[in-house]
Amino acid sequence: MLDSVSINGKILPVPIIQGGMGVGVSLGGLAGAVMKRGGMGVISAAHPGYYRDDFYTDNYNANIRGLKDEIAKARQIAGENGLLGVNIMVAGQEYEAMVKAAVEGGADAIISGAGLPLELPKYTADSQVLIAPIVSSARRLKLIARRWDTSYGTAPDFVVIEGSLAGGHLGFKKEDLIGGNIQPLEEILPQVLRELKPYEEKYARKIPVFVAGGIFDGADIAKFIKLGASGVQMATRFIATYECDAHPAFKQAVIDCRKEDIGLVKSPAGLPGRAVRNSFIQKTENAGNIKVTNCLHCMKPCNPDDTCYCITRALINAVKGNVDNGLVFVGANAWRVDRLGHVDRLMKQLVSECEKALEEN
Ligand SMILES: Cc1cc2nc3c(=O)[nH]c(=O)nc-3n(C[C@H](O)[C@H](O)[C@H](O)COP(=O)(O)O)c2cc1C
Repeated sequence: MLDSVSINGKILPVPIIQGGMGVGVSLGGLAGAVMKRGGMGVISAAHPGYYRDDFYTDNYNANIRGLKDEIAKARQIAGENGLLGVNIMVAGQEYEAMVKAAVEGGADAIISGAGLPLELPKYTADSQVLIAPIVSSARRLKLIARRWDTSYGTAPDFVVIEGSLAGGHLGFKKEDLIGGNIQPLEEILPQVLRELKPYEEKYARKIPVFVAGGIFDGADIAKFIKLGASGVQMATRFIATYECDAHPAFKQAVIDCRKEDIGLVKSPAGLPGRAVRNSFIQKTENAGNIKVTNCLHCMKPCNPDDTCYCITRALINAVKGNVDNGLVFVGANAWRVDRLGHVDRLMKQLVSECEKALEEN
């Protein structure tokens, strides 16, 4: 049996978190569908108002209203089922405001990476929202857990470890990714579990750990559960669903991509990313910087005067279906995705495959 997970008093019936995907790839539609099947649906807080009329004229309010509307939409789809998370990147310029909007909107959880979410507990102090860092090593977890404990008297409610096979921005150095000098998830997981032990004792509760990056089927989920994980976070597989909030052409680009099309890309966020190496990526590599116009100042590490391209524009082009002029983030296993399906079916399939693999051993 695949057990539900208790996360500091809230129950996640199916231990699958659908990873947050910005811009606009995971909004209320996808998150609600995942919740309906008992998982944690996650809305990305990276420009959730990108489709609104006032997005370029009143970006701040468009995104705050966009996030709250998407939370309401997910709840309406899911009813009382599952849990609702919001993914908020530390590197985002409006971090604190987005955290507060997620709390006001009524999210169950905030999952935060792309930087160290050292101050996250400060912004959620008076709420019941669960908070989780995304980490790529036990060392990073240690830094965050120590700060949360000493400055805020708390510990993570749960933790997501994102390994090097994930899509989107990666928490590893490009040289290490290229040189293969990377710890596999199988090695990071026990180290993170060990780091969490003293905090589990101090705060008298279990801190569930979810692993992410390249998780493809139920057998992968079973493998990590046996190694001590409470569940997984998966993103790429949820792109190829009818319920995913991206344009059909974005989903098709994921279904069509071959192994050799997937690779590392440069990002204005200052981190390496994994994406489909399409004509847009080739242009960014061959033609020098693409001038930024209409800058929204959305990423702390990005300098619009010398950035390689505008990541917001590239992600919006892609999610709206202009994939040849856009950035299509994918995980390393995207080439194995070969058809579109419903979230309901995918969730059932993952659970039954996982239960079968758990029984076999
Ligand atoms: C299209 C896409 C967009 C993503 N956007 C974000 C994001 O905005 N913030 C974030 O923390 N992670 C982001 N990720 C990472 C996912 O949440 C997830 O952890 C990772 O992709 C898991 O690996 P998998 O895709 O192989 O399942 C993104 C991934 C993809 C594929």
